[in-house]
Formats: sequence, structure tokens, C-alpha cells
Amino acid sequence: MDKNKVVEILNKALTEELTALMQYMQHHYLYKGSNAQCVKELLKKLSFTEMDHAYKLGERIATLGGMPTTKPNPPEVPKKGVDMLKVNLKAEQDAVVSYRGWIKVVDAEGDPTSRNILEGFLADEEEHVAELEAILSD
Ligand SMILES: [Fe+2]
Ligand SMILES: [Fe+2]
Repeated sequence: MDKNKVVEILNKALTEELTALMQYMQHHYLYKGSNAQCVKELLKKLSFTEMDHAYKLGERIATLGGMPTTKPNPPEVPKKGVDMLKVNLKAEQDAVVSYRGWIKVVDAEGDPTSRNILEGFLADEEEHVAELEAILSD
């Protein structure tokens, strides 16, 4: 197994998780719109899940001897609440596609431990897509 290649993939995932974490936090603070109390709670809950993903990726990267990144991409913060939900839905849909690809790469590298971690996250991101779709169709 090429540890550097696995670490590179896990750090790509970690960048996305840190970005999602910061974006959900910011949207939780700033969301205005219909159903605000309930939506803000959902955004907070999602941020905690992404933080858990980030922790697990960082721990796995360190176990493999790599250096976990601390740098998120800049978050997208639209003004309208409904647009916040839309950018998050798109981000979660993109995450599902990314995780499917990353799972294949770490599997090909012969790292079942990382694969199992990423498969758990994929299931969570699929759930996030469903939760955001549900709230957008309210
Ligand atoms: Fe995540
Ligand atoms: Fe997510």
C-alpha cells in the first residue's frame, strides 16, 4: 500500500470536511427564513457530524504517519436562507460522489481500515442529502 497516496486522499477529504464544518457553523449563526429554529438546529447538528468526520480523518492520517491539514476552503455564505440550504445540498451531493471515488482509490491501495472509515462517512453524507432535500421540499 502506498501510504502517501492514501494520506493525500484522506487530506482531500479532510479539507472538504473542514470546509463543510465551517460552512454549517456560519449558516447556523446567520440563517434567517422560514422555520428558523428548526433549520438552525439541523445546521448545527450537521456541523457536529462533519467535525466528527474531520477528527476521524485526522486521526487516521496521523496513524499512517501523515500530517493532517488544518486548512478549509472558503465557505459559501449566501444571503438568503433558502440559498444556504441549496448550496449545502449541492455540497453534500458532491461529497457523495467524492467519497464513492475515494473509497475505490483506498480500496485499490489495499487499505481496508481507511475504506471502512470512508464508507461510514458516505452513508452519513447520503443521509445529509436526504435531510436537506426534505427540508427544502417543506
Ligand atoms: Fe462529512
Ligand atoms: Fe455531510
